[in-house]
Amino acid sequence: MKILVIGSGGREHAIVTAVAKSPKADKIYCAPGNAGIAALAECVPIKAMDFEGLVSFAKEKSIDLTIVGMDDPLVGGIVDRFEEEGLKVFGPRKNAAILEGSKAFSKDLMKKYNIPTAGYETFEDYDAAVEYIKGAHLPIVLKADGLALGKGVLICNTLEEALDGARTIMSDRKFGDAGLKMVVEEFMTGREVSVLSFVDGKTIKTMTSSQDYKRAKDGDEGLNTGGMGNFSPTPFYTDEIDAFCQEKIFAPTVAAMASEGRPFVGVIFFGLMLTEDGPKVLEYNARFGDPEAQVVLPRMKNDIVDVFLACIEGRLDEIDLVFEDNGSVCVILASDGYPVSYEKGFPITGLEFFDSADDCYCFHAGTAFDEQGRIVTAGGRVLGVTAVAANVAEARQRAYEAAKHVQFENKYSRSDIAKGI
Ligand code: AMP
Ligand code: GLY
Repeated sequence: MKILVIGSGGREHAIVTAVAKSPKADKIYCAPGNAGIAALAECVPIKAMDFEGLVSFAKEKSIDLTIVGMDDPLVGGIVDRFEEEGLKVFGPRKNAAILEGSKAFSKDLMKKYNIPTAGYETFEDYDAAVEYIKGAHLPIVLKADGLALGKGVLICNTLEEALDGARTIMSDRKFGDAGLKMVVEEFMTGREVSVLSFVDGKTIKTMTSSQDYKRAKDGDEGLNTGGMGNFSPTPFYTDEIDAFCQEKIFAPTVAAMASEGRPFVGVIFFGLMLTEDGPKVLEYNARFGDPEAQVVLPRMKNDIVDVFLACIEGRLDEIDLVFEDNGSVCVILASDGYPVSYEKGFPITGLEFFDSADDCYCFHAGTAFDEQGRIVTAGGRVLGVTAVAANVAEARQRAYEAAKHVQFENKYSRSDIAKGI
């Protein structure tokens, strides 16, 4: 088969790596890809939001299967566009990707179908939001309704912060149209767990659990980022919690989307918080997580292409999804200064270590080739070093050792990913 993956980050590198293991994959393309993906796939310089460019490319090359990694094109309706042309594509249609694309939609869905989540109110009117916030219990969580590069969530400890936040989202429109509506949510406490799942519209099969480290600095200090590392599985996601989530969260979400006439085909990423009152949904994403894919996919035993096809063809019930009984850890190597401001264009050395390191992967997140053909830094999150070992503790040791082999100026990573697990 000829397979096209759409996206350019560590997640897409992990997807391409999994696809490359499939005997069904004869030729892999990635649009636009990055310097690491280029070792496994032919990268084509078409942007993920250039739907017409991607459709023409897929037709011209007779692509048999396209996999969309990123949220923006999914929410924008890329799957509908590919389907209109009779092209096989993995991911939710626009009317289902709204599960991630609108927080107000997802909160209303959870309320309607009794799926456990934090209490909330939605506002389209700034003054009404301000009035509500003045009488609300603190801390409080403000969420821009639409996609905001993972930055549209503000946790406010004081009234002043909350009023500032509401202004930022709704009045200053810092996140653009994502702030046309705002969800004001009750603050929850507990451990966070990510569960990714494959869905074919009616059946859901969950992948192994993982835990993400979102803050920039050790000890969960500093600003929120796209994720500084993670590990899988998490021991806090017990069989008992899993049984609860399968019955009260996962199956009901898929059934709810189907009843709403929005059958979901693709990956649902459940961001969960294990609260004192039981597991609750923090958020839904309509795609693999980044870096969740970098710890989960290396542990998956199945041929991923079989799973993608089963989802598209509505026969996921035939697939027995199996993960290795081991552990994995991913440490993100970032540019110092991320997520605020950082320099790019520094040459990266030591990558050849991974050519012969068994069970170690170096997923490229923000890299590019410079004019001399060298691999250089090209983003805030540069690389994700993942190790798979007998358990999380061993994987942690191996990931940090492997990460030492890679050098670039201003390299920064957290030193406490999976510490104590
Ligand atoms: P989200 O993009 O919705 O996952 O939010 C980003 C992060 O904000 C989450 O991973 C949580 O750490 C935090 N968060 C979101 N909603 C809440 C909430 N209701 N209570 C406490 N923390 C939250
Ligand atoms: N790691 C969180 C996300 O992909 O949204």
